[in-house]
Amino acid sequence: MFLKTVLAGVAVAIVAGGSAIAAECTLPADAQAGKTISNQCKSCHVFEADKPSRPTAPNIHDVYGSKAGQRSDFPKYSEGMQGAAAKGLVWTDENLMEYVNDPKAFLIKVNGKEVKHAMFFALKDEQKRKEIVAFLKAIKGKPECN
Ligand code: HEC
Repeated sequence: MFLKTVLAGVAVAIVAGGSAIAAECTLPADAQAGKTISNQCKSCHVFEADKPSRPTAPNIHDVYGSKAGQRSDFPKYSEGMQGAAAKGLVWTDENLMEYVNDPKAFLIKVNGKEVKHAMFFALKDEQKRKEIVAFLKAIKGKPECN
């Protein structure tokens, strides 16, 4: 009984210690607003840095500033996204704003021809797009944020 109590105390101390070490995620206001919007993306995308892509969509935790179509754990990039990758497209603010507004039109523009695409979702509201891009920018390289 005594030992059990002592062990329980140790377990509590370890748990408490663990959470004290883990970095807390702090985000600027626009990125914080974007975090709420990211719930709309999470039906397909993974945002946790250390988790693999899902069959529905690639992990986009570190997509900001990266080359398009680079997740090797997502084997189903469309013809259009593979074409964008071959052209070295980078996910800048501008490209993300355009892509999320109209994935199909953006990939046709980048490829310079009719291509298949695979993201059947669009966020038309400009303010919301700015916020989701701010969120992607803010969480890049920060595993504590997702
Ligand atoms: C219905 C599922 C779905 C939803 C919802 C969705 N996406 Fe996607 N997304 C995809 C798929 C599938 C791809 C791969 C597209 C391709 O290969 O053409 C993709 C690709 C992307 C990429 C490029 C990834 C890379 O590896 O280059 C970005 C950036 C992206 N999505 C952002 C978003 C954002 C931001 C949202 C929310 C506002 C969102 N997506 C919502 C399915 C989705």
